Amino acid sequence: MNRKKIVAGNWKMNTSFPEAIKLAKEIMAAQTNDEVIKIFFPPHIFLHEVTEQVKQKTLFFTGAQNCSEFEKGAYTGEISATMINSIGCKYVLVGHSERRLYFNENAHQLKSKIEQALKHNLHVVFCFGEQLSERKSNLHVETVNRQLTEVLENFNGEQLNNIILAYEPVWAIGTGETASPQQAQEMHANVRDCIEKLFGSSIASNISILYGGSCNPANAKELFACKDVDGGLIGGASLKADDFCKIINSF
Ligand code: PGA
Repeated sequence: MNRKKIVAGNWKMNTSFPEAIKLAKEIMAAQTNDEVIKIFFPPHIFLHEVTEQVKQKTLFFTGAQNCSEFEKGAYTGEISATMINSIGCKYVLVGHSERRLYFNENAHQLKSKIEQALKHNLHVVFCFGEQLSERKSNLHVETVNRQLTEVLENFNGEQLNNIILAYEPVWAIGTGETASPQQAQEMHANVRDCIEKLFGSSIASNISILYGGSCNPANAKELFACKDVDGGLIGGASLKADDFCKIINSF
């Protein structure tokens, strides 16, 4: 088994330019676990400068919060996977619930975005997770398996090596309500089973599955101790250097 431990910070639409640089520098200057891959997802406009910063330190990388489903051309306001790759940025988030909910991104678009990202040598962090109503009606497992299957099923094993999964129950994102370690472990084990059915046991045992949703320094240790939780995708707590470092050091 060759699963990577990853802690990623999704800064969303936060920080000014000086704040973004300061945040990255403070985190990189701190003592953090060197078994963990750290990824910053700053706003696009700061991606180049933050990428220049992380190039100076091993195990630190950047990712874009989104990329276009198209290759290039007349798509005003969009940013392509080639552009992201051309500045030395290595990752891209695809399928975050805020993109699905507020920008109506559907499975077809998410598939195209992943195709673009992989074609241009980016690693994908693919996010999925159920809504509160789905959990309450006991449809969470079915929902997650559908979200995984409809987007990933036509990719091949080699492509899956460049995909990281992030289970983010929508009811836990930015709400302060975290999935319990039991709920997280149960779902992560289910996700690994679903990936095994689609791509076989070797891919399933090697793929990293991150947990996201109100993960913070107080709950990260318990969550990361779960057998099938390989790290976290952190929103709010990634904006405070100290909190983010504590989360990294929770492994
Ligand atoms: P949160 O966000 O940690 O603020 O809940 C997580 C995410 O949206 O990736």
